[in-house]
Amino acid sequence: MSTERAYSTSAPSDLGGERINRSSYGTKAVWFFRALLLIPFVLMAPEVISALRGSPDGMANISASVADVLGTSTFLIFIMMLAVTPIYTMTGWRWHTVLRRDYGIAMFAVAGTDLTLAAITTGDTFPGTVLTRIGGHTFLVAGTLSTLLLVPLVVTANQPAQRWLGRHWKAVQRLTYVVWVTILIHLFLLFGLSAIFLEAVAVSMPLVILRLPWVRHWWTAVRRRGSRRVLRAVAAIALVGIFGLGFVPLANELAVRGSAAFVQKPNHD
Ligand code: HEM
Repeated sequence: MSTERAYSTSAPSDLGGERINRSSYGTKAVWFFRALLLIPFVLMAPEVISALRGSPDGMANISASVADVLGTSTFLIFIMMLAVTPIYTMTGWRWHTVLRRDYGIAMFAVAGTDLTLAAITTGDTFPGTVLTRIGGHTFLVAGTLSTLLLVPLVVTANQPAQRWLGRHWKAVQRLTYVVWVTILIHLFLLFGLSAIFLEAVAVSMPLVILRLPWVRHWWTAVRRRGSRRVLRAVAAIALVGIFGLGFVPLANELAVRGSAAFVQKPNHD
């Protein structure tokens, strides 16, 4: 299909009042990335259905899988949401910007499910009341807080809320950065300076660097001028490489733990 033809099927969509022309390739890619958001629910479905049917291992299986599958999924969705703006800065692409809101809402849905299932099923690991299961350790408090902080973000992720809040809307959306920190604290308290925490830092680093105002302004300006191509290519390879060092093992962790959950043989460690 020629570029012209691809663009002839374009459908405009809205992002904060801005009109975006999305090619048919862009529309397909957006739906592909939206479809990925079903993965955590599909992976957990067999264990949840078994538990609802009263299977003897049902609750224990969910307890063993929930943090690994839904925690890792929530983090990966968060990271992909945070990658939307840096990808725009580096490439100038706009077809994917609609995903920022979709990924934010999906992150809340997955984290909320994580918190709910943890509150119901993890009594074997955290004996006590429901409050012990969601707040009996500082790492649990950090995980629960990260999830609860998503509520104002999701509630205000729409145009009526944006109009109502006016200039305060951005301040509310900045809670995203607080969530970023509380998630890293959650992982540091759980794992210290070991692999998962370091992977989380590695994926975060390029996303922070590309948000620094002077980096963002410089990159946007030279991209628009078409200058500094070699420097930009080297920087892009370095940043994408660091991102990959964190993202690939985390995605692999989800594949391994998620497939074990799907066949209802989680690691009860
Ligand atoms: C925004 C919300 C959250 C994010 C992004 C998140 C992220 C993660 C990640 C990436 C892991 C590592 C998983 C692995 O070992 O492969 C993890 C582990 C864990 N999370 Fe969370 N989490 C969140 C919320 C919660 C909540 C609400 C709870 C419970 C109340 C919780 C409890 C745990 C526990 C107990 C582990 C350790 C699992 C294990 O290694 O056995 N998390 N979390």
